[in-house]
Amino acid sequence: MEKVDLKKKYLEFFKSKGHKVIPSSPIVPENDPTVLFNTAGMQPLVPYLKGETHPEGTRLTDVQKCFRTNDLEEVGDTTHHTFFEMLGNWSLGDYFKKESISWSFEFLTKVLNIPLNRLAVTVFKGNEIVKADEESANIWKSLGIKEERIAYLGEEDNWWPNMEMLGPCGPDTEIFYFRGKEEDIPEKYDPEDDRWVEIWNNVFMSNNHEESTVFSPLKNKNVDTGMGVERVVAVLEGKDDNYLSSIFTPIISKLEEITGYDYFDERYTRAMRIIADHIRAVVMISGEDSAVKPSNTDQGYVLRRLIRRMIRYAKKLNIDISSDWEEELANIVIDEYKGYYSELERNKLAIIQVLRDEKVKFSRTLEKGLKEFEKIVSNISGNVINKDEAFKLYDTYGFPIELSQELAKERNLEVDIAGFKEKFAEHQEKSRQGAEGKFKGGLACTGEIETKYHTATHLLNAALKVVLGPHVHQKGSNITAERLRFDFSHPEKMTDEEKKKVEDLVNEYINMSLPVERLEMKKEDALKLGAEAMFIDKYGDIVSVYKIGDVSLEFCGGPHVTNTKELGKFKIIKEEAVSSGVRRIKAKFEE
Ligand code: ALA
Repeated sequence: MEKVDLKKKYLEFFKSKGHKVIPSSPIVPENDPTVLFNTAGMQPLVPYLKGETHPEGTRLTDVQKCFRTNDLEEVGDTTHHTFFEMLGNWSLGDYFKKESISWSFEFLTKVLNIPLNRLAVTVFKGNEIVKADEESANIWKSLGIKEERIAYLGEEDNWWPNMEMLGPCGPDTEIFYFRGKEEDIPEKYDPEDDRWVEIWNNVFMSNNHEESTVFSPLKNKNVDTGMGVERVVAVLEGKDDNYLSSIFTPIISKLEEITGYDYFDERYTRAMRIIADHIRAVVMISGEDSAVKPSNTDQGYVLRRLIRRMIRYAKKLNIDISSDWEEELANIVIDEYKGYYSELERNKLAIIQVLRDEKVKFSRTLEKGLKEFEKIVSNISGNVINKDEAFKLYDTYGFPIELSQELAKERNLEVDIAGFKEKFAEHQEKSRQGAEGKFKGGLACTGEIETKYHTATHLLNAALKVVLGPHVHQKGSNITAERLRFDFSHPEKMTDEEKKKVEDLVNEYINMSLPVERLEMKKEDALKLGAEAMFIDKYGDIVSVYKIGDVSLEFCGGPHVTNTKELGKFKIIKEEAVSSGVRRIKAKFEE
């Protein structure tokens, strides 16, 4: 069957229904410290789903890059992925069930030509917040879906996202496609029969989940829909394994070429799927302008885990790790997606560099680590790898704890995770004390002028956000008695006009004589207030936050001046690139 350009068809269809096509938001959320990655198309739209006005109007559609780690263990079967693309169309207080359902039906049966007898739907059976969704069921019936193809299910199936998550939510109707043979198509839909695969979810957002039991009605009722590209393309191409669809075959073929192994040889199928999945995710994450690099925290840790996991499976396929295999695979992904996501082209070198650097780092210890693991296994009494051993694999050999767990599982062993976490926390505490010791040393020689530059750094961070946008985040900072240096995320060179604006704004803040206050609060409260933090995980539960008037709020240990009027006239002396997506400003006070 020919390759289906599902994304194009989808966006065109919803454009014809009055929707504006909006670009995908970055996979790493720009201004939402509550999540590490965008996991659904609606996530970047939460403020609008709660009632803010969207500049593009009330009908929106897009393809969103999504990433989920909750299915990581499942990756390797035929349908689970970490990275995937989600097609979505939204009504922000505009149309509701009738249009949403009718258009889904029209798109599936008229544009994609899916036969009616392969479709079934589920609707919400009702709870104490919202009653049973007869309205949706009736709309489906009026379109020709038979009664026996409509199932009424409860909160666990037809409430999105679930009853625990805070934020906009509501009942949904899900659309299923029968993936089996023509002659096996049953009359009745059976939720237990996994030949029926979910292809589309239409959420009728009616509530905002505010706190544990409070579901207040939303001012405007919204529609939020999601369709997984990988799954639907596989369905349309008649494949019962997503990795055999046109989305994955170029990567799988390349793996076959590199290894000389056959994908259908059961000894290699799973490893090939895992590599094919992870290389896409790694390219998408490291290809963002926010320039995430492998590290031991947050998104960087996930990136590290994916690359290391991929390398381990490449070893299972006997790939020569030192060859350019990872670059060849990455290039396939970049070429396939750069039309939709221009940042991949722009950041191509950075992506390849991330892969290579991490490969080199991990390769140095992987072999030794695996030997160490074997040693642990051969000396084990019982079936648990203890906390000291697990910590050694992590600390000395760079094994993400999940990797040790996976290796253990292959041998029917377990890892003492609770013990590992304890040791990990102890270790962090020690290095924090170490860092504080250093910082104290630094502070001892923090003179008046350095303190002033420190406060000016916060003002600069705030001004950059105003002038360039909320994507600006601190990536590094360094202060001497002569100048400040500040690294931040921003995709391109600043224009002279932008530099001037930033400079003027910082000076305006200085002239406003703003008070600089140190506050102590719970980390979660600081995050709720929107405090800037470079590494959230670095902080304990109670944090120190510096507030400068109403212009800046940042996690920070200080020291700072007490009022901005103590600062001199601020002047940018240089603006330059540090790496892809990261800029550096040097600035000083004028004499
Ligand atoms: N937000 C809904 C989902 O992710 C559409 O399934």
